[in-house]
Amino acid sequence: MAAKEKDANPGVLVTGQARDLGLPPETCLYEKKLNPCIIVIFGASGDLTGLKLMPALYNLFLAGDLPSPCYVVGCARTSMSREEFQNHMAEAVKKAKMDVARWLEFAPLLHYLTLDYDKSADYESLRDFLKDMEEKHETRGNRLFYLAVPPSVYPVISQELGRTGLSSEEGRDWVRLVVEKPFGRDLASAQELNRVMLANFQERQIFRIDHYMAKETVQNMIMLRFANAIFEPIWNRNFIDFVGVVATETIGVGNRGGFYEETGVLRDMFQSHMMHLLAVTAMEPPSLFEADRVRDEELKVFRSLKPLVPSEFGEYLILGQYIASKVGDGEVKGYREEANVHPDSLTPTFGAIRVFVDNWRWQGVPFYLVSGKRLQDKLTQIVIQFKEVPHSLFQTVQLGKIIANRLILGIYPEEKIILSFETKIPGTAVCLRRVTMEFPYYANYTGPVVEAYETSLLDVIQGDQTLFWREDAVETCWSFFSPIIEGCESCPTLASHIKQYPVGTWGPEKAWPILAKLVG
Ligand code: BG6
Repeated sequence: MAAKEKDANPGVLVTGQARDLGLPPETCLYEKKLNPCIIVIFGASGDLTGLKLMPALYNLFLAGDLPSPCYVVGCARTSMSREEFQNHMAEAVKKAKMDVARWLEFAPLLHYLTLDYDKSADYESLRDFLKDMEEKHETRGNRLFYLAVPPSVYPVISQELGRTGLSSEEGRDWVRLVVEKPFGRDLASAQELNRVMLANFQERQIFRIDHYMAKETVQNMIMLRFANAIFEPIWNRNFIDFVGVVATETIGVGNRGGFYEETGVLRDMFQSHMMHLLAVTAMEPPSLFEADRVRDEELKVFRSLKPLVPSEFGEYLILGQYIASKVGDGEVKGYREEANVHPDSLTPTFGAIRVFVDNWRWQGVPFYLVSGKRLQDKLTQIVIQFKEVPHSLFQTVQLGKIIANRLILGIYPEEKIILSFETKIPGTAVCLRRVTMEFPYYANYTGPVVEAYETSLLDVIQGDQTLFWREDAVETCWSFFSPIIEGCESCPTLASHIKQYPVGTWGPEKAWPILAKLVG
C-alpha cells in the first residue's frame, strides 16, 4: 500500500523479516522512495483518462505526492496539440468538481503525442520523444506505461514496447506497465495476453489494476481481520452462516454499450472486483504484509473455489437484464435500447452466484455474490452473517426469534463497519432488541481522503504490487469463470434464463430472497 512519504529516503519497513525473502537484513521490502518518472498514458483521449486518471494525478499533485520531477505524456490516435490536450484535461478535472486553482502549475507537466497503436514507426517516435524529455527533465529514464485502451490493443502495445526497447529497465530504476481490466475475456485469452506481456516485460513490471482492491475499506478488511485478535477465532464455518458480497449500481451501461456487449456483468464485475472482495474475506492470514505473500493467500482462495457445473446453474446462478421502466418523472431505457447494444442481446447486466470455498475453514458456508446495473440503490458491502445461538434461554421473555449477529463492511455509500447484536431493552420489562455498533471509517481522521485510483497510481510508482492481480490469480479466476460463461453462452435456452427486471428494482424476482439476506 502506498504510504505517502515525501521524504526522499527509502524507509526500512521490515528488517529482520527481509531475511527469509532472500534479501539482506537491512533491505526494504519495497522502496518508499518516489523516483522521478514519466507517465505515458495510452488512450489519453478516452473516458478513463478524463474520468479517473487525470483527476487522480492532479489530486496527487495537489497533495505533493507525485515524484519530482514527474511528467505525463498522453498518447492516442486522436490528433491533438499539447495545448488542446491540456485544455481537454482541464475540462475533465473541472467536470470531476475539483478545485482548479492550481491547474496552471500542473498543466505544464502534460504533453501529448498522437500515436496509432498499430503503427510501429509511432513507437519509435515515442521512444525519441521520451529520450528527449528524459534528458531535458532528468527523470532518470523511469517510465510508467498505462494501458487505458480497449483490451484488443493490449497485445500490440506490449509487443511494440518490447520491440523498441521501451520496456527495458537497463540503465534506469524501473519501467512499469499498468493494465486495466478486463484482463482477457476467458482463460485462453488471458493466458495468451500473459504470454505476450511476459515476453516483453517481467512479471514484477506488470501491474494488473483493479480499483476495488485499492478502495480503503476493502484494504481495511485485511487489517480488521488480522490486526485484531477477536475476529479470527470466529471467522470460519463453526460461527459463520453465510457471507455476502454485494456491489449493486444504479447506473446503466451509458455510452459503454459496445464494451458491455462483449463483457456483461460476469466479466465486468465478477471475474475481477467480486473475486477480490471474496478473496480478502476468505483468505488465510499471510505470514507478512507483503505483496507476494498476500497474493499467495488470495490465490489459494481462488484455487479452492468449488467449480460450478452447468447442471447446477439453475440453483447457483441467477442472471438478469434490465428493461425500460419509469423512474421518478422519466422513462429510463432498457439495456437493449442502449447505444451499440444488439436489440436481441442476451448479455446479462445482473448476476447472483452462490459459490463455495472448498477448504477446511469454509466447508459448507455459502458465499453469495450479487452485482448488477440499474438497480434500486448503489450499494457495495461485505456481509458476514453469524450463526444463531445454539439454544435460546430467553424463550419465556422473547416472543420473536433472537436475531443472529451480523458484521457489515460498508464500502459504498458509507465506508463503515457495523456490528449488530442483541441487548436488553432498558426498563423494567425483560425484552431483547437488536442494536448496532457502528464505526464510520473516517471517524477521528482529519487527513485527506485518497481515491482508489490515486492509491493505485502511487503504488505503481512505488513498485508495490500488493493491490494488483498476479498472473496466476487472474488465470485461476478465469478457470473458474470461463466454464460458467461458456456454459451460459452456448446454452440453447439462454434467453429463458436471463430474467428481465425493470430499471430501479432489486433485479430479477428470483434473486430477491438472496438480496433480502444481504441488503437491509
Ligand atoms: C468498473 C466497471 O470496473 O467498475 C463498471 O467496468 C462499474 O461497469 C464500475 O460501473 C464500478 O465501480 P465503482 O467504484 O463505482 O463501484
